[in-house]
Formats: sequence, structure tokens, C-alpha cells
Amino acid sequence: MTYPRKHLLAIEGLEPPHIADLLDLAESYALLNRSGKTQRDLLKGRTLINLFFEDSTRTRTSFELAGKRLGADVINMSVSTSSVNKGETLLDTASTLNAMHCDLLVVRHGQSGAPSLLSQKVDAAVINAGDGTHEHPTQALLDALTIRRHKGRLEGLIVAICGDIAHSRVARSNMHLLTTMGSRVRVVGPPTLIPAEAARLGVEVFHDMKAGLAGADVVMMLRLQRERMSGGMVPSAREFFRFYGLNAEKLACAKPDSIVMHPGPMNRGVEIDSAIADHPTRSVIGEQVEMGVACRMAVLDVLARGLRRNV
Ligand code: NCD
Repeated sequence: MTYPRKHLLAIEGLEPPHIADLLDLAESYALLNRSGKTQRDLLKGRTLINLFFEDSTRTRTSFELAGKRLGADVINMSVSTSSVNKGETLLDTASTLNAMHCDLLVVRHGQSGAPSLLSQKVDAAVINAGDGTHEHPTQALLDALTIRRHKGRLEGLIVAICGDIAHSRVARSNMHLLTTMGSRVRVVGPPTLIPAEAARLGVEVFHDMKAGLAGADVVMMLRLQRERMSGGMVPSAREFFRFYGLNAEKLACAKPDSIVMHPGPMNRGVEIDSAIADHPTRSVIGEQVEMGVACRMAVLDVLARGLRRNV
């Protein structure tokens, strides 16, 4: 295992062998999970704190399950920041957690860079579970694992990431991971929702959805992140669905064996038609959730090995 860092704050900066090793380890945890076995000795005596300043269903639960399946003591903290100075709260919280000697700290925060700041203030290994519009590294890992299980590889695949790219940390982490692993990444959406940095990241930009989906192996849909938009960036949900919602007609432009992904939470009828989201063969949305637990077990395992070295 070649993972080089104490923390997992971003996909940007990781190299192909680091990603491939994490995915291989996650694959072995996926098999373990399916067999119903656990490895509760691996993180025995370790404390994992889930520190979530933003809402979450899948991510928080799967980190909790991942920690428990490896034997860690898991504590969930949900913090509302609505009425407090965020910077101060974050650093106060950091020193409190540090005094409790937690080993692994999973952080979700509305501000980009918050987990990185925390990582400089605590002794624990920090895992970014989504920071503002910046990155969501474990989501990109679970997406990559799901793709690899279906397509056998990442290299050379055409992956179309569609919808609200600008506000999506999922899209950003996926762009970094997939381009690093040799996929051909396209981003598809209205000009208001495509970030200026897309060109720098080496992805192709499409404003016409059918053109963007043509020949794609993977179609990844994203939620309209209205909570991060400063103004009306799309006319209406109905209008958005007409141009950028995934339905059978648009999906027919992708390869006949293409898979459909969504990180959740889904807005049915806005970015994706229910019939596609629930499609028995094309949709792999349920498997993404399953791979989420496996990938988080792999990340906790690898970071805990680093902690042991530091003792
Ligand atoms: C995403 C997130 O929080 O960034 N959800 C997730 O972790 N699966 C995507 C979203 O909120 O739309």
C-alpha cells in the first residue's frame, strides 16, 4: 500500500498508484462485506469521531458503519453553525476533540478548506467528508470503484458528469480522480453551472446534453445545489429537466451498456427521471452506496496504519 499521507483531504495531488491501491483494498472490503464477515480487531481501541457541520445521510452513516465493522469506537457529532462564527467554532472544537485523543476525525463542513485547517490543529488523522464546493474524496473513490466493477477499468472510458458542476465537490473530486486514472471526462450543463476551472482540469465542456452523452460509458448525474447558489442560476426545475434532466431519450445517446450514477440525494424529476434512477440494469446508484462503506473501510484502514507508525 503506497498511500503517502497522514490525512485524506483531497483527491487532487494523489497519483495513480495511490488511487489504485486504495481501490484494490476497497474491493477486498466489498467482498468481505458481502460475505457478512467483519474485521473488528483492526481498529480496536481506536476512536473515530464523525464531525458533521452539514446535513448528511449516506456519508455519515457509511463512515459509522465502516468504523464499526473494523472495530473502532464511533462517536457522531452533528453541529449546527447557523448562528455562530464558523472560524472560531471550528478551532475551539478542534482543541476540544484533540484533548479527547481521538484517532480518526471525519469532517464535513460548508466551507472549503475547513478539514485542512482542522488537520493542522489536531493530532488525529483527518478525512474530508465534503467541504463546501471543494472536494469529497471518498465519494470519488466509491464512484471509481463502482465504475471499475462494471467496466473492468477506468482508463479510456468516457465519463459524462452532468448538471450542477460548479457547486459540486463530488464533481471536482471525480474530475481529479478520473483524469488522473486516464478516463476521458466530460462535464455537461448550462454555462452558469460549469466552473471556469473546467478547462484547466483537462475535461471537455458540453452545453448540449445529447452531444455530451454521445458514446459515453458512464453517465453521472448531480443534484442542483441550490443552497450553494448565490442567485437564480437556472430558470426553473421544469426547464432544467427539459434540457438537462436524464430521461430515456437522452440516455439513448450514451453507449447501450452505459451505467447511470448519482451520489444522492436525488431530486427525481429535476435532474433524473424516476424510471432511469430505478432502472434495474442501467442504474448503479444502490451499488454506489454499498461501495461507499467498502471505500471508507479502506481509507480508515490505511490511515490507521499511518497512526500506528507514528506511535
Ligand atoms: C453529496 C454531497 O454532500 O456533496 N452527497 C453525498 O455525499 N453523497 C452531493 C449532494 O449534496 O448533492
